[in-house]
Amino acid sequence: TTLTLGMILAAYLAGSISSAVLVCRLRGLPDPRTAGSGNPGATNVLRIGGASSAAMVLFFDMLKGALPAYIAFRLGIDQVALGAIAIAACLGHIFPIFFKFKGGKGVATAFGAMAPIGHELALALMVTWIVMVLISRYSSLAAITTAILAPIYTWFLDERFTIPVAMLSTLIVIRHRDNIHRLLKGEESKVSRKRKS
Ligand code: G3P
Repeated sequence: TTLTLGMILAAYLAGSISSAVLVCRLRGLPDPRTAGSGNPGATNVLRIGGASSAAMVLFFDMLKGALPAYIAFRLGIDQVALGAIAIAACLGHIFPIFFKFKGGKGVATAFGAMAPIGHELALALMVTWIVMVLISRYSSLAAITTAILAPIYTWFLDERFTIPVAMLSTLIVIRHRDNIHRLLKGEESKVSRKRKS
């Protein structure tokens, strides 16, 4: 329907707002697309700029997924269309129309889009990601593991959303292919925090 198509477009445009680039610009930090891992996301902003900048990026990137998904949810849009809207937000983040189509990996945005499904799922995903970071120190490995587990958690917690969550997870894992290669070669960069000097 027109509503769904409009929501897909709006989600893509919202996703295209790269908060990592904007926050770094605003705070006079190096461009996250060229500094650190070169990825415009919260993890890399943590490397370049520190915790408060990273928290801002995390918040706004999550919001880009959560807002469209929540609105679609409230409008009673069906699950597959909901999945398409969530994917559109992530695709906006990954291929932003406002930033020469060079975006991030979509982890925070996908998490934001999954969160409206329910508190238990959001908590399970958050705990999985945090535990994996604490064990491995790899943000990418934590994201990949969480993405793989997300459809399984969803299957148990709210079966209806398994397919859209699996769609999002697939996108996230594919987007981490360079990270997967680096992990296998032992060349992946760990999570580190820039400290105030
Ligand atoms: O959220 C992106 C994360 O999974 C990997 O980031 O900067 O370590 O490639 P980075």
